[in-house]
Amino acid sequence: EKSFSHKLPGEHVYKGVLFFGYSPPGALDAVKDLQVREDDVFIVTYPKAGTTWLQEILWLIMHDGDFARATSTPVYLRSPFIEFKDDVLGEDGLDLANKIDSPRVLKTHLQHSFMPMETNKKNCKIVVLFRNPKDVCTSYFHFYRSSSSFGQFKGTWPDFLDMFLAGHVDHGSWFDFTASWWQQRNRDNVYLMYYEHLKENTLAELEKLAQFVGKGQLSTDLLSHIAEHCSFGQMKTNPMTNHLDVYSINSHISPLLRKGEIGDWRTQFTVEQDEIFNRVYAEKLGHLDIPFQYRP
Ligand code: A3P
Repeated sequence: EKSFSHKLPGEHVYKGVLFFGYSPPGALDAVKDLQVREDDVFIVTYPKAGTTWLQEILWLIMHDGDFARATSTPVYLRSPFIEFKDDVLGEDGLDLANKIDSPRVLKTHLQHSFMPMETNKKNCKIVVLFRNPKDVCTSYFHFYRSSSSFGQFKGTWPDFLDMFLAGHVDHGSWFDFTASWWQQRNRDNVYLMYYEHLKENTLAELEKLAQFVGKGQLSTDLLSHIAEHCSFGQMKTNPMTNHLDVYSINSHISPLLRKGEIGDWRTQFTVEQDEIFNRVYAEKLGHLDIPFQYRP
């Protein structure tokens, strides 16, 4: 077992998984007991897979393109992060989830076994968004540097890469998360998407997504409007989605909407680091043959 010097504020290990203090044990317990509604849609991602992008897309799909609300209320208030609790701000994702009207679009980064128990019984919808892990790791490194929730990481990139490969980061191992959801992908109410497909084929992906969540065939006009509103450039300048107002993120170090590209890992990884990553990947997940796309 390696030891790591970086400490997350309030970090703790819950059922074998490392969490920062904004997902305290009590909040993780309470999530298990969340009362699920039949028309709930869960967005399940590992951090940095494109969660915010999918939140904005799905919220608009579920609310028939209510752009008036989308441009007047921050996305994190419309689509609660269920295992997030900030005692300083008094923000409680679960509390918010219990208060908002249906249809709810709920965000979580949890592995399958940590999910609300009722998601296994009720006919809610679960949309899982995957992104190639080298871009996830790169994005997570920059977010660790900029966010006080993660203790504004001062270590080096090689330090972070070690932490990521060991699962010693908030919400634990990307490998465990991914294996847990890959196993669920054939359930009727689970829909697996890829960041890279969404980026390269946005309209077609939105059309399939709308079908999955029960919205049927939405008009091309509406889907194009949503795709345009949710483009990287639009979301980066839109104060309701860019998170420039979130006190914990120092956007001068690195904004949440940083690059939004496929393959930025190639500017971050050395050849040797790439080889190490590939070796660990092959050992842990190689047998699953998940079709990750690493390049545009
Ligand atoms: P990068 O750091 O590679 O730019 P999350 O929302 O899960 O925290 O993920 C953040 C990542 O998604 C960031 O990746 C961010 O730029 C990217 N992202 C956010 N909105 C996007 C959009 N509309 N299009 C493409 N990528 C987006």
